[in-house]
Amino acid sequence: MEEFKENTQLKVPVHVSIIMDGNGRWAKLRGKERVFGHSNGVESVRACVEAAVENGVRYLSLFAFSEENWGRPAEEVNTLMGLMFKAIANEIEALKKQRVRFRVLGDFSRLDPSLVEAIRAAEASTVPSSGEEPVLDLIVFLSYSGKWDILQAAKRLAADFMSDPSGLEKVTTAEFASRLVTAGIPDPDLIIRTSGESRISNYLLWQAAYSEFLFVDTLWPDFRKNDFRLALEEYSKRDRRYGKVK
Ligand code: IPE
Ligand code: IPE
Ligand code: MG
Repeated sequence: MEEFKENTQLKVPVHVSIIMDGNGRWAKLRGKERVFGHSNGVESVRACVEAAVENGVRYLSLFAFSEENWGRPAEEVNTLMGLMFKAIANEIEALKKQRVRFRVLGDFSRLDPSLVEAIRAAEASTVPSSGEEPVLDLIVFLSYSGKWDILQAAKRLAADFMSDPSGLEKVTTAEFASRLVTAGIPDPDLIIRTSGESRISNYLLWQAAYSEFLFVDTLWPDFRKNDFRLALEEYSKRDRRYGKVK
């Protein structure tokens, strides 16, 4: 494996987002059920949170379960939801110690009410005391899709302008974005997808407008601190021009 060079001056992204893919293939390679890959992926999450904190990344977001993933066999869906429950129970204390703020975003209307309750409690318990800034915001996208997010924002916008439709004319992209579930969170600077797939799979469609993309072959349960650091090193080499001439 390529070694990360410790002394390199890194241009650190504020927000790193990861499409955590390849759990099923990782398990299959070991002759195990797909769910074995999902449970091993939790360790990769822990490693990336630590790597993000160590490298000064301010926001780490993770695509954990897509709207489309509801179409998987019920047994797999139940296991994934169970893992979310377990991760909340087991990891929240460690996150608090590291001063990490935990948040979950997505279409909660499809989640089991007991899971929603556990998520809300975990989120509330990691809100820093007033005046304090978290070291890292860890954002998990659960039951999420980019098209769903844009549609719910459009519906909220329409509702807000019900009494004054002419006001819609002046709505800016910033005002629209303030109705997305990611309101207040800076757009991802870097989006990493593991497992060799080069697609966005209905993830942050609006928010990814100017993200840098990195597609790596590593399967998610194998993606650890060194892979995270290598991704930061690759990001450092990118020249972000935003359509302008440098
Ligand atoms: C990512 O791994 C986890 C989720 C999408 C929930 P997959 O389960 O998609 O694993 P592969 O892509 O089939 O290997
Ligand atoms: C994308 O992975 C969703 C998550 C990682 C949560 P999928 O495995 O579901 O996506 P496709 O099927 O390869 O597009
Ligand atoms: Mg997949």
